[in-house]
Amino acid sequence: PKQQTLAVIKPDAMDEHRDVILEEIRGRGFTVTRLKETVLSREMAEEFYKEHREKPFFSQLVDFMCRGPCMMLVLTKENAVEEWRALMGPTDPQKAKETSPESLRARFAADVLHNSVHGSSSEQHAEEKIRFIFGDISTEAALSAD
Ligand code: CMP
Repeated sequence: PKQQTLAVIKPDAMDEHRDVILEEIRGRGFTVTRLKETVLSREMAEEFYKEHREKPFFSQLVDFMCRGPCMMLVLTKENAVEEWRALMGPTDPQKAKETSPESLRARFAADVLHNSVHGSSSEQHAEEKIRFIFGDISTEAALSAD
């Protein structure tokens, strides 16, 4: 069955790498069912990353995510959560370069904070984050799953 995930092209990748990332996404067989460019407010970024609130890098992460536009995408594909995580590669681009040199983070990311892309870590997170960013699109999801 088709699955949905939330993907984000982060501010560090928007100027130079957005178009090639979008091409890569479509080339790998994901359907982009929703797409919007947005500048996150501090409040939204804090809520979006609330699971990381206690981490030492939290305030840096929020600053970074608010510094310019992000591209928010809903990706639909079989096994979308895992497939998108594989295409992104590991969080740290240094590690990505070693273990998955073809991945987006290996190719485009500067460091573990400025790592170009985000993806939901589970189907449940995907559902929650998609609703947070796009509102309730569960009916569309059901329709596009056929
Ligand atoms: P993401 O997959 O969006 O989830 C949490 C984000 O926090 C991560 O990508 C990075 O942007 C950032 N992050 C994770 N680990 C670290 C770290 N050790 N130092 C700085 N930023 C980090």
